[in-house]
Formats: sequence, structure tokens, C-alpha cells
Amino acid sequence: MGRVHFGVSAFFVFCLLGLSANAKVFNIGSPPGSDITNALLKAFNEACQFPTKSTVLIPKGEYKLGEIVMMGPCKAPIRIALQGTVKADGNANGKEKWVAFRNIDGFKLNGGGVFDGEGNAAWRVNNCHKTFNCKKLPISIRFDFVTNAKIRGITSLDAKNFHINVIGAKNMTFEDVKIIAPAESPNTDGIHVGRSDGIKIINSFISTGDDCVSVGDGMKNLLVERVTCGPGHGISIGSLGRYSHEENVSGIKIINCTLQETDNGLRIKTWPSAACTTTASDIHFENILLKNVSNPILIDQEYCPWNQCNKQKPSTIKLANISFKKIRGTSGNKDAVKLLCSKGHPCQNVEVGDINIKYTGADGPATFQCSNVSPKLVGTQIPKACSSPVTKPPK
Ligand SMILES: *[C@@H]1O[C@H](CO)[C@@H](O)[C@H](O)[C@H]1NC(C)=O
Ligand SMILES: *[C@@H]1O[C@H](CO)[C@@H](O)[C@H](O)[C@H]1NC(C)=O
Ligand SMILES: *[C@@H]1O[C@H](CO)[C@@H](O)[C@H](O)[C@H]1NC(C)=O
Ligand SMILES: *[C@@H]1O[C@H](CO)[C@@H](O)[C@H](O)[C@H]1NC(C)=O
Ligand SMILES: *[C@@H]1O[C@H](CO)[C@@H](O)[C@H](O)[C@H]1NC(C)=O
Repeated sequence: MGRVHFGVSAFFVFCLLGLSANAKVFNIGSPPGSDITNALLKAFNEACQFPTKSTVLIPKGEYKLGEIVMMGPCKAPIRIALQGTVKADGNANGKEKWVAFRNIDGFKLNGGGVFDGEGNAAWRVNNCHKTFNCKKLPISIRFDFVTNAKIRGITSLDAKNFHINVIGAKNMTFEDVKIIAPAESPNTDGIHVGRSDGIKIINSFISTGDDCVSVGDGMKNLLVERVTCGPGHGISIGSLGRYSHEENVSGIKIINCTLQETDNGLRIKTWPSAACTTTASDIHFENILLKNVSNPILIDQEYCPWNQCNKQKPSTIKLANISFKKIRGTSGNKDAVKLLCSKGHPCQNVEVGDINIKYTGADGPATFQCSNVSPKLVGTQIPKACSSPVTKPPK
């Protein structure tokens, strides 16, 4: 580990690297090309035990990185400046995660660097999009119980499974984050959040094979703003109701986002015969631009992939206080809007305002279907609200 001491030159180095001058710097001190798993863990642990603010520096260059857990609690706020690229191994082994940050309060991750999950070989053995009990592949970056955190200006490339998974967070911001994997890479959700309070995802670009942002149970107060998604499966709340110990979802705002060439747009999905009775409420989508998005607006309370559920029993997940406003652009299929709510628990207080979705395919025009919901309508409705007969939701 190299220590940077104060001096005139060190001061200039700090300025050049954009490091704050009052933080102690722990440089991993490994040459490019090497495996930095042990060096990073050592630097992190030293920084974590340091009594005042510190920075762990991974300088420019490409490094190999094995599975790693960076675990707090730490004695003071800690920052990881990833300026280089860290690469996972390319095999398809069944680990649960690659990089994890755990129990850290006052955390920053920035520096413009790249986490390269090397997912190519793993995608070929992945069968999770076809079956319920499938081979588990590692999530690229996990944040478990990280609080008061800011993740800025980093890239996640070619994750084997989800790119980023967040659980147990409080007050966490993602800004200027890039997430990239091929459209055909399975299960590569961009950012999955759940069981957290206060997450912002701002000004970011997510182009991947599965959901752009997915929201699990127990998520409260999520803001997704100025995010561009696509390709991928769009922004999804749920699926909810698959497990028995789920918690409510509330306070979700998706604003000023663009979806391009995604398979779904704005989606809320719950299982029929749900294993729990929870509520998802206060969910608002506003000012969204659609570019050739299939199924742009979809509430699906009969979400049942692989047909592994009893569709006879309506979903027991309650949906309330939901709005879709200023949603405009083009649909990739005729199913522009589907609000398919539970027969057992019709959706309460759904507002649909200023919708203008065009579809130009030969089987058009675009449709707007409703069941077990009477939306409050405001402003433009193209297509005409609730005017089409209900068909089955897409898979
Ligand atoms: C949220 O976290 C940021 C650090 O990213 C911190 O500056 C801010 O004070 C925190 N806000 C609250 C309300 O604790
Ligand atoms: C979205 O962006 C526009 C400018 O592009 C801004 O005027 C508006 O306030 C933003 N909307 C929200 C809900 O923040
Ligand atoms: C879930 O939300 C419903 C409706 O707001 C509320 O009645 C219920 O108490 C909430 N459950 C929990 C565990 O917070
Ligand atoms: C829209 O997306 C579909 C795939 O969903 C593609 O086949 C089609 O060419 C796209 N249309 C345009 C106009 O880009
Ligand atoms: C929905 O909003 C109404 C009015 O603001 C509020 O009284 C009600 O508690 C909300 N329902 C849920 C489930 O949050």
C-alpha cells in the first residue's frame, strides 16, 4: 500500500485526481494487470479503521478482481475512488455476488472507473429466464445496508446477473452512472432496489438485457429522474407478492425519463394468488418520452412467468394512489396502455393524464385497456382511455 504524504507535489496530485485534501489516501499500490483482490481488501480495511475521512484509491489501469466483501462499520466516512477498470473472471461459476459493500455509513464511490463483470460466458449457461429454479450467477455490485451514500460517475459493464442490487439503504444517491450490457443478456437488471428508504437515481444511462430499474418490496421513497433506459425491459415496480414476508412499497417517483427500444415501459406487476397482502401506493410516473417501446404503460396483477402460479385466485396486493402523467411517444406494439388490476382488490385512485402514445404498425391502432379500475382522466388521452376490450397481458 502506498501512502501519499503532504507536500507541495502531493497537493498537486490531490488536485489533479480531484481528491479532497483533507482525506487520508490509501492507494492499492498494485501494478496494472495484477489481481488486486487482496490489496483492495487490505486498503479498504485500513481506511475503514482510520479515525477520520479516508479514500481508497484504485488508480487508472486495468486490474483483475475476485469476489470481495468490503464490510463496515467504519470509524469515519470512506470513499472509494475507482479510476481504473476492475475485471471479474470470465467463467460461469455459481457465486452469489462479485463485489459487495456492506454496513457502511457515509460512503462514496466515484472516480470514473469501470466494473466489468465479464458476463459473456455466464449468459450462455443462464437459464433463469426460462425456469424458476435456475443456476445462480453473481450480481456484479451489491450494496447491503449502506447509508448516507453517493455513487457517482462509475460504469457497470456486462454483469453476469443484476448489475447493481441495493438492500437496506437509507439516503443513497446514484448519479451519472452508466450501465451497459447487450440487449440479449439474460437477467442483467440495471439497478434493483428494495427494503430501503430514500434512494435517488439521477441523470444516468442504463442499456441492458433486463429491467432498467426494478423495485422490490419494502422500497420507500425512490426518485428516478433524468434516466435514459434502453434497450432492456423498462422500469418495473415488482414483481410483488411472490413471497410471504414482503413489505409495502410507497413513494415512488419516476420523472423526466426516456425509454428507447425497451420491451416494456412503465410497469407494475404483482402475482395472482400472492403469498402476502401488502400495499403498493403513491407511485407516480411523469414526463416520460417513449421511443418505440413495447407495452409502454402496464399494470399487470396477473404476472405469472413460467405458469407457476394459480391464476384463479386474484392478487391480494393492493395498488393505490398511482398516476401516469405526460407520457408521450411511440409504441412498438398496439398494447399502448393496459391497466389490469386485481378482481379481488381493484386499483384505487389511479390517475391518467396527458397520454399521447402512437403506434403505426399494420395491426394498429394503439389500444387502451382497463379492468378492475376506473381511472381519473385528465387532459389528452390518445388512445382513448379504457376503450378497448381486455386481452391477456404480455408474458
Ligand atoms: C444524505 O447523504 C449525503 C451523503 O451522500 C449527506 O451529505 C447528507 O447529509 C445525507 N442527508 C441526510 C438527511 O442525512
Ligand atoms: C422535467 O424537466 C423539465 C425541463 O426539461 C423541467 O421544466 C421540469 O420541471 C422537470 N419535471 C419535473 C417533474 O421535475
Ligand atoms: C401497508 O400499507 C397499508 C395501507 O397504507 C397499511 O394499512 C398497513 O399498515 C401497511 N403495513 C405495514 C406493515 O406498514
Ligand atoms: C421497433 O422495435 C421493434 C422491436 O421491438 C423493431 O422490430 C422495429 O424495427 C422498431 N421500429 C422502429 C421504427 O425502430
Ligand atoms: C391514498 O391517498 C389518499 C389521499 O391522499 C390517502 O388518504 C390514502 O391514505 C392513500 N392510500 C394509501 C394506501 O396510501
